[in-house]
This record gives sequence, structure tokens and C-alpha cells, in this order.
Amino acid sequence: MNQKNYKVGIVGATGMVGQTFLRLMEERNFPLSELRPFASESSVGKSLKCQNIMWEVKPLGPECFNGLDLVFIATGDELSLEWSPIAVKAGAFVIDNSAAFRMKPNFELIVPEINLNKIDRKKPQIIANPNCTTIQLVMALRPLQLAFGLEDVKVSSYQSVSGAGAPGYDELMGQITNFKTSKPIAKVFPHVILHNVIPQIGSFDDNGFCSEEIKVMKETRKILDQKDLKVSAFTVRVPVPVSHSEAVWVTLKKPTDRASIVAALEKFPGIKVVDDPKKSEYPLAQNATGKDDVFVGRIHHDPENPLVWMMWIVSDNLKKGAALNGIQIAEGIFDIRPSL
Ligand SMILES: NC(=O)c1ccc[n+]([C@@H]2O[C@H](COP(=O)([O-])OP(=O)(O)OC[C@H]3O[C@@H](n4cnc5c(N)ncnc54)[C@H](OP(=O)(O)O)[C@@H]3O)[C@@H](O)[C@H]2O)c1
Repeated sequence: MNQKNYKVGIVGATGMVGQTFLRLMEERNFPLSELRPFASESSVGKSLKCQNIMWEVKPLGPECFNGLDLVFIATGDELSLEWSPIAVKAGAFVIDNSAAFRMKPNFELIVPEINLNKIDRKKPQIIANPNCTTIQLVMALRPLQLAFGLEDVKVSSYQSVSGAGAPGYDELMGQITNFKTSKPIAKVFPHVILHNVIPQIGSFDDNGFCSEEIKVMKETRKILDQKDLKVSAFTVRVPVPVSHSEAVWVTLKKPTDRASIVAALEKFPGIKVVDDPKKSEYPLAQNATGKDDVFVGRIHHDPENPLVWMMWIVSDNLKKGAALNGIQIAEGIFDIRPSL
């Protein structure tokens, strides 16, 4: 195992994903010799605590990544497109949480439990971290793909407001605090999210799909490396602070039984089965928040078609859906075993 300490940059360190990176570096005792947080001009000069040291937020600039081994990008696509290649040129591995490089053919889209072996660990490069809704879905699909084969996947998501970053989270919290005294106003979401359910995440194409749905469909095929897999997604925003939930219908290639499905899921690292519906035990967003695992429950088959299995998948979108997956990629590249 590697004993080196690493110099790490986080672009977007003050945001929801950036803050989760900081917390996870502490939780997992990431071997750090320097942390360089970057954010917008309005945050420059603030200090962020990690591993008992205060690190000053710096502005992005031409030499800002020099000497770093690793840079996590936790900003939007445009900033990633501009700054990720500069970080690689400076000699760093880049793990990018934005969608900028995910579907580009020469860039790897990684969930470590599934396809870490695709990364050339000797070559600094941009590695794409998948969409949060995709990660928890493929985590549950992978053991089923390996054991029984996958034909078709249909998913309907119930996504938390923190998936839209700090502005989305703050919008719901503000509406909760003020709803008795003032009429809520939608700024981040297309409608008021308090006491509501919004069937839109991102912008719509001419076929009626929103951009989040397209991401889930394309990224799932790429990560599972199965071009013929049919994936259909319907993504919905709900007034939940953190953790995404998904109702999923999976058509397998081979018939099987519930016990074999549960066994395959339980064997897979990072999956926890919570499934005793008669006792009202199944995964819940409130219980998944702050946890590392992807939780699966409500596993039952369609009486009309025994190849179709239904399940409920829940995970913390800021942890496994973003920063935890990113840190696990870094631990894989550098051969670090986390001391949890
Ligand atoms: N939230 C999730 O569940 C999730 C999951 C998977 C992937 N992602 C992706 O991760 C990325 C970050 O998402 P987030 O939820 O953390 O967003 P966020 O809470 O809105 O944070 C955005 C970060 O970007 C920084 N930033 C904005 N403009 C900047 C500039 N010009 N220069 C440098 N930094 C700048 C902000 O700094 P200031 O604080 O100074 O404004 C802040 O640190 C996005 O690409 C998102 O799609 C998010």
C-alpha cells in the first residue's frame, strides 16, 4: 500500500459537493499534505477547515494547479471544460463531478465498484464522475447484470433539492422557514418546490425528455458497458433535502428467484438490502442521508412477467452520488486504503 501524502485541489470547495469532499477527506483520513480550495471571487479569502487545518480559498488562475497531484472539480460544466485540461497539463489527475466529459468517447466514466480497471493509473488525465441518479442505479444493476444479464431498465426518480446544489437546497429551506408569512417564489426550480412534486430536472429536448433523463440513460449504458441495454428514465424533483430515491423496473435475461437477487445484491460492495415491507422496512431518504451505502428494498417481481423485477433504490446524492464516488476513484488511482 502507498504511504505518500498528496497535494489536492478542490474547485468549487464551498459548494454542496465541495463541502462533502472536505468532510470525506476527514472521515476517511485521506493522506493529505496540502489542500488548495478554489471557489468564485466572492469566496476568495475565506478559510475552510479540513483535518484540523484552516485552508484559505484561492482564485482560479493560470498557475493555480502547479504542484498538485489531484484536482476534484465540483463546479458546473463550463468551468470544468476550461480548467480541467489546465490541471492535467500541470500534472494532476482530475476527477470531474460535472457532466462536461462524461459522454466524450476518450474519457472514462467511473464507478469504482464496477470499472475502476479502465483507468491508466500512471497517466494524469480527466476522469468523469457520473451523475448522482446514475451512480446509485448502476450500483444496484451491476450485480444483477453479472448474475442474470440485463435486458431493459425503467427508472422513475424522486430527487432531492441538494441535487441542484446550494441554491436548490437554500430555496427549499427558505420556503419552509417563510411559508406562513410570505408567498413562496421559485428561482432555482421551474415551480415552487415546497409542498410540490416537479416532473422536470434540466431542460427538455424535442422528444419530451429532460436533460437529467438523457444523462441517466446514456451514462448507465456507458458504465455497464452494454450498448444494447434499453434504459428509460423519468426524473422528478421532490421537496426532500438530501438523498435521491428511485423506483426501478428491471427486465433480466434469465429467470431467477427473490432469494438469489437478494444474495447477488448483498454480495456487492457498497450495497445494503433493507427489505421487510410488512414491517414497513425499506430504504428511506432520511435514513440514507449521511451514509456511504446504496440501499435497496421492495424487491418483488411483476406477476405478469417473472423476468421483470421491481425495486426501490435510495442513496445520499452528495456522498455516493458525488464526492464519495470521487474520493473512491482517487483512492483507487493512488492505491490508498481508507482508514475509516
Ligand atoms: N449536488 C449534487 O447532488 C451533485 C451530484 C453529482 C454531481 N454534481 C455536480 O457537481 C458540480 C457541483 O455541484 P454542487 O451541487 O456542489 O453546486 P453548488 O453547491 O452550487 O456549488 C458550486 C461551486 O462552484 C463554485 N463556483 C461558482 N462559480 C465559480 C467560478 N467562477 N470560479 C470558481 N468557482 C466557482 C461555487 O463557489 P462560491 O461558493 O464562491 O459561489 C461553489 O463552490 C456540478 O457540476 C453538479 O452538476 C452535483
